[in-house]
Amino acid sequence: MTIEFDAAVLRAPGEPLTVERVSLPSTPPPGEVLVRLGASGLCHSDLHALVGEWEVPSPMILGHEGAGTVERVGEGVTTLKEGDHVVLSWTPSCRRCRHCVGGRPVLCDMVSRHSANHLSFDGRSRVTSADGGDVYSFAGLGTFGQYALVPESAAIAVRRDAPFPQAALVGCAVTTGVGAAVNTAKVRPSDTVLVLGCGGVGLNAIQGARLVGARRIIAADVSDDKLEQARHFGATHVINNRGEDLAERISQLTDGRGVEVAIEAIGLPRTIEAAYAVLARGGTAVVAGQVADGVQISIDPFVMSDQELSLIGSNYGSSTPDSDFPLLIDHYLDGRIDLDSLVTRVIDLKDINEGFDQLKAGIGIRSVITY
Ligand SMILES: NC(=O)c1ccc[n+]([C@@H]2O[C@H](COP(=O)([O-])OP(=O)(O)OC[C@H]3O[C@@H](n4cnc5c(N)ncnc54)[C@H](O)[C@@H]3O)[C@@H](O)[C@H]2O)c1
Ligand SMILES: [Zn+2]
Ligand SMILES: [Zn+2]
Repeated sequence: MTIEFDAAVLRAPGEPLTVERVSLPSTPPPGEVLVRLGASGLCHSDLHALVGEWEVPSPMILGHEGAGTVERVGEGVTTLKEGDHVVLSWTPSCRRCRHCVGGRPVLCDMVSRHSANHLSFDGRSRVTSADGGDVYSFAGLGTFGQYALVPESAAIAVRRDAPFPQAALVGCAVTTGVGAAVNTAKVRPSDTVLVLGCGGVGLNAIQGARLVGARRIIAADVSDDKLEQARHFGATHVINNRGEDLAERISQLTDGRGVEVAIEAIGLPRTIEAAYAVLARGGTAVVAGQVADGVQISIDPFVMSDQELSLIGSNYGSSTPDSDFPLLIDHYLDGRIDLDSLVTRVIDLKDINEGFDQLKAGIGIRSVITY
């Protein structure tokens, strides 16, 4: 028995997604669950794949920021049952490898072996196109379709009173941004934090820094609209780095010291270098933005040793999805972080290409598909 549904499929990079009929088995294999999606956000990482900045296999259902309901569970599944509300994780973990056991499940061996190749844990795809061919699912999820078959550890149960559009964003932008500040940078109340890029990820880095009580939060972007949003999410100072000199403004704002933490949430070499260049002695630059394939950066290693600077990467906000997803939903429902204002547009699957046009043009924060 199979389930048929519409999904937005990447047929060729650089071309619009095609909404087409696809199918998957209605009975989950052992260790997997069938999820009926309630909502999916449009993230810039999907856009990297869509425009060909990342080389990905095709045909592929894009989308990796989703929430929904468990429809059926496969043999051996113990942590989920039918009817559970779940947020999907694009780093399903084996819970056994040295990274999982060591508390860094986003680095799980299974992720690099399978999810990163857009396949299930057994190295195969689950979805079939109308012509009978295999269809990849982005990060092993493929949330731009109403159904997904995912490993048990890719579906994290959360409380039922969070609306799906907001919960979906916990599946990428919120966890990535808040986590970059809280988990990766470990922002302290004495820190001045710069967040470079105020889109879905950057605004969450701002509210992550606010959550842990950072002394000052400086937001930089090239769009005044985004900077207005940044103030709403907790920025104490804003810089439009198209018109203003970033390094000079940071120097003014910090009496020449620089910032203790700089989080890059764009994915461009010059802004990663700029984040590193404005660090105070002993400071940390976090690379949360993801660059196009093949991009390199240049830094001065003498300054790095002399001033004990750190440049560190942040994958999925260095999170532990099992505990961080429910925690972030609690923070939201108790009013400590704002997820409502992130959802600037709710759209139908058929309007997905228009949603990506808006993301490209920097209009709004997140467009979210509801099913
Ligand atoms: N590390 C991770 O685990 C992870 C997870 C999700 C997304 N990402 C990456 O994070 C990046 C941001 O994703 P998003 O969904 O927030 O994107 P977005 O398009 O919503 O936001 C990008 C922001 O950067 C701003 N910007 C663009 N060029 C700029 C410049 N030169 N100077 C200052 N600001 C500039 C834009 O105006 C926009 O506000 C992407 O590269 C995405 O792939 C990383
Ligand atoms: Zn994402
Ligand atoms: Zn593992």
